Amino acid sequence: MKQLFGVIGDPIEHSLSPVMHEAAFEHVGIAADYHAFHVLPKDLQGALEGVKALGISGLNVTIPHKVNVMRYLDHIDPLAERIGAVNTIVNDDGILTGYNTDGMGYLEGLRPLLDMPLTDMRALIIGAGGAARAVAMTLASKGIKELYIANRTETKAGELAKACKPLTATRSLTLSLAQARLMEFDLVVNTTSVGMAPNVDNLPISLEMLGRHTIITDLIYNPDETRFLKMARQKGAKTQNGLNMFVLQGGLAFEKWTGKSAPRDVMRKAVLEQLG
Ligand code: ATR
Repeated sequence: MKQLFGVIGDPIEHSLSPVMHEAAFEHVGIAADYHAFHVLPKDLQGALEGVKALGISGLNVTIPHKVNVMRYLDHIDPLAERIGAVNTIVNDDGILTGYNTDGMGYLEGLRPLLDMPLTDMRALIIGAGGAARAVAMTLASKGIKELYIANRTETKAGELAKACKPLTATRSLTLSLAQARLMEFDLVVNTTSVGMAPNVDNLPISLEMLGRHTIITDLIYNPDETRFLKMARQKGAKTQNGLNMFVLQGGLAFEKWTGKSAPRDVMRKAVLEQLG
């Protein structure tokens, strides 16, 4: 019998997940449909009851449900618990388990760029929202040497740093201090929406002090090269946009649902075609 998967969010109409996962199911020969479900916050509990009642095999979860969905699940994976958000749900005969593959997707995309072990690296995270938390907690759980968190609202950077501290040496700092100390970091991640279309001229921090040894990554993939990444590349730094993270979090979700290796290249191609 054909299985059903899907993504829940509000809004959901521009989600790239359906084309990505449908391409993956077709490629590996699994008979499945993947649907984008528009679920309002007031309907979240009903939607999760529906997953059980209808036998939906698995879900992705996106804005604004990643945190609130946790209360309706039977089990939560330890990394998702640490992050405090779930982006993937597996339905195992009516038992719902929540995972978070966002941070691991980011890390998998980063690996080919690394020329030193994570345990020797100092990373700067710009932003302190949900995406920052997924990346920070994952890097910290995987043993990064030092984490620095800078955010417009400084109290939020302090809170995230405090949450990461039991896992690795973490400090918060102001955005202006972060840009002055840019030479000290091996990796910089922009997790904010600064530079996203249509505000493409904005920079999360100045790159004046950037050295070529620092890897610069942006979670944004629209535009495919933000001004931040373009300036970093022109200064000789290695760069990566957020498309890999998106595809790889999807690949990891696919593997949790199916137990089969995800066809990452097929998934990336489907997303790129959809983006045009
Ligand atoms: P996400 O889930 O994508 O991380 P979020 O939780 O709303 O979204 O977090 C957005 C992040 O982008 C925050 O760190 C936010 O900074 P504040 O905590 O100060 O709000 C940051 N951000 C958004 N717009 C920004 C802007 N114009 N300048 C600087 N930071 C911005």
